[in-house]
Amino acid sequence: MSSVATVLDGKALAGRIREDLARLVAQRPLGSRPPCLAVVQVGEVAASTVYVRNKHRACEQAGFDSRSIHLPETLSEGEVAAHVAVLSADPGVDGILVQLPLPSHMDPHVVLAGLAPSKDVDGLLPLNIGNLVLGLPGPRACTPAGIMRLLRHHDVPLAGTRAVVLGRSAIVGKPLAALLVEADATVTVAHSRSRDLADLTRHAELLVVAVGRPLLVTAEMVRPGAAVVDVGINRVPDGSVVGDVHPEVAHVAGWLTPVPGGVGPMTIAALLENTWQSYVTRLGSSPP
Ligand code: GUN
Repeated sequence: MSSVATVLDGKALAGRIREDLARLVAQRPLGSRPPCLAVVQVGEVAASTVYVRNKHRACEQAGFDSRSIHLPETLSEGEVAAHVAVLSADPGVDGILVQLPLPSHMDPHVVLAGLAPSKDVDGLLPLNIGNLVLGLPGPRACTPAGIMRLLRHHDVPLAGTRAVVLGRSAIVGKPLAALLVEADATVTVAHSRSRDLADLTRHAELLVVAVGRPLLVTAEMVRPGAAVVDVGINRVPDGSVVGDVHPEVAHVAGWLTPVPGGVGPMTIAALLENTWQSYVTRLGSSPP
């Protein structure tokens, strides 16, 4: 096959979303504070440091305030939860993101117990997952929200289509499956214990890959004309970054997200949107 998939350019769309938000922030009432995102990082995971820096930079460019809370991994999960609880009670903070993964001795559920649901801009608390599954309002997990925005922007068909999500994480696979069901797709979630992976993926009209295995999905695993979304960001030994999907898939798929420049920038745009939404809701209930 010689055709080449339409590029689902997340970088371009995210740039526009961020510009729109920057305009809204600049137009806020005179004397009011801008939206504020607090990012909590625990310990020293190198990749997390890069992601956290990107989030602060995105906040700055959109005119948001951001706070960085970098805690040592020697703290107990209760002590980290207490820091999160202080931010939850702070009227000057609209969104709180606890960067994952946490150090292995910390249970994320214990750490997040201190997080106010209205400030959960990652949409990870049980209450917000419940709202998502029930189709009720509330913050949606950023990567799934960004993927849906990108697919809709490019008019990728969703209703009635066969969607396969590879990966069942709480932060991508599970919430994305719920959003796709809400969009009337017929959804299969596959994972490391699934049999006959290629047989599943070959039937997918929409294939989302979020497993963290470099170049796992090859051209013969993809249905011609399918929309393929690559959530993987894998640093390989030569220092470059590759996705979970082999670039040769571009010759089979109808749409494909690039890595980098696909899902990653959309995640950050969704984070800013969630923070903006929380800010607007908070403004409505009490002036900042
Ligand atoms: N680590 C990698 N991506 C994310 C994300 O979207 N949110 C959080 N909290 N941690 C992450």
